[in-house]
Amino acid sequence: MNKDYLTLANNAMSKAYAPYSNYPVGAVVVTPSGDTFAGCNVENASYPEGHCAETAAIAAMVVAGQQRIDHIYIMSQDLTGATPCGGCRQRIREFADAQTPVYLCSPTAVEKQVTLGELLPHAFGPEFLQTAGEE
Ligand code: THU
Repeated sequence: MNKDYLTLANNAMSKAYAPYSNYPVGAVVVTPSGDTFAGCNVENASYPEGHCAETAAIAAMVVAGQQRIDHIYIMSQDLTGATPCGGCRQRIREFADAQTPVYLCSPTAVEKQVTLGELLPHAFGPEFLQTAGEE
């Protein structure tokens, strides 16, 4: 099972556009229905305009009409396993919760399994805000 997700993440990572950092990343979001959405990082000559792999995977999930992350794989070439940047931890939080498993992967294996709560303790999330239309 993991192996299929690793293959998807690896395929996504192989598509990364990272000519400035030479740090390709692949991410695969798995939703409760078992659907998968992959993303890679896409850098830009104007450096801050680049997008992370997790951002791309989450956008693909949302445009497909899904808004829940069951678990997520993040892969880099780093043999100790990728770890999401602070901004992406917050982006994952929007569609996940503290118990959501996050798999930190090298190109060939899940190197660490953590929860989002471990990566982003005391998170600020949607529950702190009134949603649109609520009294
Ligand atoms: N990167 C990601 O895609 N996800 C992360 O969580 C960490 C960083 C990308 C952004 C940039 O293209 C490259 O890795 C180096 O920072």
